[in-house]
Amino acid sequence: MSDTRSPHQKPFALFGPDFTFAYDDWLQHPAGLGQLPPTQHGTRVAIIGAGLAGLVCGHELMKMGLHPVVYEAGRLGGRLRSAVFDGSDGVIAELGGMRFPRSSRGFYHYVEQTGLHTAPFPNPLTEAAGSTVIELEGERFYARRLSDLPPLFQQVAAAYDQALEEQASFSALQEAIQQRDAAAVKAIWNPLVKDWDERTFYDFIASSRAFQQLSFRHREVFGQVGFGTGGWDSDFPNSMLEILRVNVTRCDEDQHLIIGGAEQLPQGLWQQPLQQAVHWPPGTSLQQLNQGAPRPAVRRIHRNDQGQLTLTDSRGHQESFAAVITTCQSWLLTTAIDTEENLFSQPLWMALDRTRYMQSAKTFVMTDRPFWKDKNPQTGEDCMSMTLTDRLTRGTYLFDQGDNRPGVICLSYAWMSDALKVLPLDAEKRVELALAALKKIYPDVDLASHIRGNPITVSWESDPNFLGAFKGALPGHYRYNQRMYSHFMQDQLPAGQRGLFLAGDDISWTPAWAEGAVQTALNAVWGVLHHLGGHTHPDNPGPGDCWHTWQPITLDN
Ligand code: ARG
Repeated sequence: MSDTRSPHQKPFALFGPDFTFAYDDWLQHPAGLGQLPPTQHGTRVAIIGAGLAGLVCGHELMKMGLHPVVYEAGRLGGRLRSAVFDGSDGVIAELGGMRFPRSSRGFYHYVEQTGLHTAPFPNPLTEAAGSTVIELEGERFYARRLSDLPPLFQQVAAAYDQALEEQASFSALQEAIQQRDAAAVKAIWNPLVKDWDERTFYDFIASSRAFQQLSFRHREVFGQVGFGTGGWDSDFPNSMLEILRVNVTRCDEDQHLIIGGAEQLPQGLWQQPLQQAVHWPPGTSLQQLNQGAPRPAVRRIHRNDQGQLTLTDSRGHQESFAAVITTCQSWLLTTAIDTEENLFSQPLWMALDRTRYMQSAKTFVMTDRPFWKDKNPQTGEDCMSMTLTDRLTRGTYLFDQGDNRPGVICLSYAWMSDALKVLPLDAEKRVELALAALKKIYPDVDLASHIRGNPITVSWESDPNFLGAFKGALPGHYRYNQRMYSHFMQDQLPAGQRGLFLAGDDISWTPAWAEGAVQTALNAVWGVLHHLGGHTHPDNPGPGDCWHTWQPITLDN
């Protein structure tokens, strides 16, 4: 999976494989995303949710001369949330998105535009981590790179590469994505959709020739150390298509963090004054257009007698709009918002409600300094390392902010069962359990003595504004995904279902990646533009203009 790019080639992007549209090209084109009839300038469009998807929509619609009205039930930023340690000078814990693959070209467009800086994320076996410890069934391995580990680990990695190659034409597909050759991507991808939508990730592993030649132990170790960022056993029941997308679009490699915190991105989109916009004077910001802060939570969406979409907020205030974009997790359209049923078709409701969210818990502490780089006098090794284990903590990540600055440790980042184990527990209990697990791996390290201040923890599934961390599609969910993703194309919909748009990573093909939020937001932007009588520049067609040629394949019902 090395980067074989020639100097003239475009950077590797999350291009397809379902909808082969180059969002980064659309964003970077000097003609802009599109134009509205001047009579629409100043038209108010509602956006539900001030996370990345909502604020990308707000930003782009404002640039076109519309007036985005943003509603937010909780805290601005969504799952880009950087929590500051009490009493620190801005030392943060990344509670949501923390590592962003470089193939997320749409996402990085906004990172650059907001003037943010990035650094390699300390993932297992990367240079940024320095060293990695893998501890399974009580056996501990110290490594800087994969080749330092015993042959078993290399066999596992090679078997996965081989399985991908044999069952998914992996390198040809990745090369077609690199070349942005839509026809070639589709020729390989579309048959895979049929083959793998109804089969699990585990089935892919267990039925592969490569793993069948190896022991059960190999499959087990694969589950614990996986690929890229670590153990993916929590995804074993997921549709294999979802995993293939991650691998082939390089979502789980070459990841960067945002220095100072990922939440600066939504904050920047909210606060940054526009350089140039249609209709609005230079210097206008989303914050200003919203008179300082978002509206409160939306409680009800219905269509009024004039055919407009009316939102009722938690204080009972009502306003009606020609277009509304909802970016919240789709379950909230059932649990948190009284959404008039006939605004969506029944098959779309099936898709929205069947969405399966995964659980995720993280627990962080701040330390006096990056003490883990102190060497063990006996071995010369780092006294503590980025750690993958089959114990409760699963993944432990170390954030070095310089020798004279406090350090940050994500004691545990876990999904599904491992996240559920700590769901009812408070931060102190979570820290206690994590420290006990790490003590077994690092008996000589007095981690507790280095901790400063209060721990920070999150379980996204316990937050009523989220109900889960991110979508993880199950077998048979392709059709649901396609319905949600395609919904921005509304010309064929009955009039009573138009004007309400969906965006967010749970609507995308790449849930748990911010790029999915950006790409679906841009689809919704195109949808609103079209809905209000606007159009794209002929030299810079948008997702809806290219839809009929490159749309995701339809499976029969
Ligand atoms: N992108 C997130 C991360 O890097 C989540 C990855 C796990 N995704 C999943 N479907 N399990 O941590």
